[in-house]
Amino acid sequence: MFDLNNLIRKNIKNLAPYSSARDEYSGEAKVYLDANENSLGSPLVRWYNRYPDPYQWKVKEAVSAIKNISPRNIFLGNGSDECIDILYRTFCNPGQDNVIICPPTYGMYEVSANINDIEVRVAPLLNDFQLNLAHIETLIDEHTKIIWICSPNNPTGNSLNRNDIETVLNNFSGIVAIDEAYINFSRQKSFLQELNEYPNLVVLQTFSKAWGLAGLRLGMAFASEEMIRIFNKVKPPYNINQATQDLALKALQENGQVVDMIKEIVAMREALKEVFERMPVVEKVYPSDANFLLVKINDAHKVYEFLLTKGIVVRDRSRVLLCENCLRITVGTEQENTELVDALGEWISQLAQS
Ligand SMILES: Cc1ncc(COP(=O)(O)O)c(C=O)c1O
Repeated sequence: MFDLNNLIRKNIKNLAPYSSARDEYSGEAKVYLDANENSLGSPLVRWYNRYPDPYQWKVKEAVSAIKNISPRNIFLGNGSDECIDILYRTFCNPGQDNVIICPPTYGMYEVSANINDIEVRVAPLLNDFQLNLAHIETLIDEHTKIIWICSPNNPTGNSLNRNDIETVLNNFSGIVAIDEAYINFSRQKSFLQELNEYPNLVVLQTFSKAWGLAGLRLGMAFASEEMIRIFNKVKPPYNINQATQDLALKALQENGQVVDMIKEIVAMREALKEVFERMPVVEKVYPSDANFLLVKINDAHKVYEFLLTKGIVVRDRSRVLLCENCLRITVGTEQENTELVDALGEWISQLAQS
């Protein structure tokens, strides 16, 4: 049985959070002399002399309108990477608890665990890059706090079977964190609307991919109100800066433009997949629900180095479990994709001549 109170670290349960000036007075005032800001202004735009809203309500309301999720179910982090870290700091006792990851997958689940001194248990994906439920089951013990599920998965690009994820949600009494960084490019439905059904569910999304705002550093965690309240206690008081809040709000008014970009990227992904599949050096292009393709190619590392000489950098994933001889290639602009395809064409003709 899921019991949030039992899962939270004792020190966090008992934590008296920092009370910032904006916690103690959150209304509108004429004169603010309570936060030791510089009242004269700043060398930049005048409003940056003030601390930002610690709970980013305006941004959350705008996200809420698009996602149809209450602002109270939303936590904003300095990238999803902060959301990943906050899950560790909230639930996992260093040197005592463990989490389960399913590689090949996003590297920060493991790095963040190592930083927090949390044991990582590994249930590799099956050969078709789906969850190995039987293996996951054998790894769970009373100290298992989080199971990380990345769907669509990085670096493989596929979505994980919804039934498998539901099996984990229904049978694991710890936190199931579903990282949906690439969900906007997917044919699959998000788990966002299932928050009421599963009190152990945390969904992560980000502004870094479909929204095109990786430089702003803004990630989202969606969970029960109870869980979000705890994350708010644990986070640094002003974790999302004013410039990010302002720009995110502006971007959120342009949802239509983002939808257009997503359509364009998905169309280019499918076109690139067809072109790659016709190349004699390509062994396999894995199906992708993301903004990148995992491509199994002869001599992947040599191809990677050749592309570098052409000024094109892709990700060499050859040494990653189940990804031998694989390159992970992000969909670029039309022009960039053409340059990439031309460079690969050049590589193929060089091979033919040698
Ligand atoms: C699956 C996944 N989750 C999270 C992130 C990090 O996102 P953010 O930029 O929001 O920290 C990435 C970045 O590549 C990713 O691939």
